[in-house]
Amino acid sequence: MKVTKDILYVGVNDHTIDLFEGQYAVPNGMAYNSYAIVDEKIAIMDSVEAAFGGEWLANIARALDGKAPDYLIVQHMEPDHSANIAAFMSAYPQATVVSSAKAFQMMQNFFGTGFDDRRLAVGEGDTLCLGRHTLTFVAAPMVHWPEVIVTYDSADKVLFSADAFGKFGALDVQEDWTDEARRYYIGIVGKYGAQVQALLRKAAGLDVQTICPLHGPVLREDLARYIGLYDTWSRYAAEEEGVVIAHASVYGHTKAAALELADALRARGCANVTVHDLTRCDTAQAVADAFRYSKLVLAATTYNAGVFPAMRAFIEELTERNFSNRTVAFIENGSWAPMAAKVMRKMLESAKNMTLAATTVKIQSALSDESRAQLAQLADELCAGQ
Ligand code: FEO
Repeated sequence: MKVTKDILYVGVNDHTIDLFEGQYAVPNGMAYNSYAIVDEKIAIMDSVEAAFGGEWLANIARALDGKAPDYLIVQHMEPDHSANIAAFMSAYPQATVVSSAKAFQMMQNFFGTGFDDRRLAVGEGDTLCLGRHTLTFVAAPMVHWPEVIVTYDSADKVLFSADAFGKFGALDVQEDWTDEARRYYIGIVGKYGAQVQALLRKAAGLDVQTICPLHGPVLREDLARYIGLYDTWSRYAAEEEGVVIAHASVYGHTKAAALELADALRARGCANVTVHDLTRCDTAQAVADAFRYSKLVLAATTYNAGVFPAMRAFIEELTERNFSNRTVAFIENGSWAPMAAKVMRKMLESAKNMTLAATTVKIQSALSDESRAQLAQLADELCAGQ
C-alpha cells in the first residue's frame, strides 16, 4: 500500500491475538503499522510485534526491491512496536537506529544492547534529512510511554503519530473507526490527557494532511474530526449527552433495578441509554462508554461490608484514568446493612468536577414500592434538561 508516492506501508495484521496488552479483547485482531520512506536515504518507521518479524522483514524487502534501509526510526518502545529491532539490525548491518535517549535505555533493557555504535539519539525539534523528505522529531512523553517521539515529514505533510490516533482491529477488517479508537484511547492512553493535550498543541502548529499511526488505518480525510475527538477525550469532556447504567448484581435484584431505570429513562425520551452488566461485559467497553456519555449510574450490591468486586474494579478503572466532569448517581442494594453507595461515593471522591445526583436509590433485597418510587425520581432527575 502506498501512503504517498514515497511512503509505503510495510506493517502486518495480527489475527492470532485474543487480548491486546493482555487485557483488551480484540475480536477483529490488531494491526502493527510500519512504514518505509523511500528517498535518497531510506527510513523504516518502527518495527512490529514479536511473532511477525519474518513477515515484516519480508514486507520491507519487497517494498524496497532489494535496496537496504539506512535508518530504523523507533518512536515507541512498547514491544508491539519494538520487538523486532534486534532482528532488523541483524538483517541490515549498515542501518542506524534513530530514537530518543530514553528509548535507547529501554533497548539496553530489552535487548542487552543500546546499539551504541549504530545509533542516532534525537529529541524535540531535531531533524533528519533523507533527501526530498526532512523529518522533524517531536517529543510526546506519555503518549503512551515516556520515551515516545512522533515524526513530521514536511515534504508530504505526514504526521507519524506513534500510538496516537490508533485503534483496535486489523486493517483487513472493515469497522467503524470511532468506537474502537475510543475503546483503545480510553483504555490505553486515557490516564494521560494532559500529555495528549500537549501533543495536540504541538501538532496544531504543523500542516498535517495525513496521519500515520502505529495501529489502525492511515487517516487522510476529515482530520479535524479525529483531532476533535482526541481533544474531547483528552479534556475528559463528554462526547455527547447520554446515561450509562453499570450494574453488578449477585441474584438479579440489583440488575432488575438497573433495567427498570433504563426503561424509565427511555420512556421519558432520555437520549442514549446504555446498560452494562459488569459481571459479564467487556469492561473496556463499559469504561469507554462511561467516558463517552455525560451521566453514569452505578448500581451495585453490598458485599463484605463494601461494594461487589466487579463494581469496585470498574470504579478503579475509571479513577485511574482520571474520570471527571460527569454526573453520577448510585443505586445500592443490601439485605441487612446497605453500604454500597457510601463506598462507591468514597471511591469517586478523588474524581474532579463531579456532580452527584440528589437521588440515591436504596434497595433492601428486592425492589419495593418505595425503591421503585426512588427509581422514578432518579429517572426524572437524570432526564431533566435533556
Ligand atoms: Fe501500540 Fe503503546 O504501544
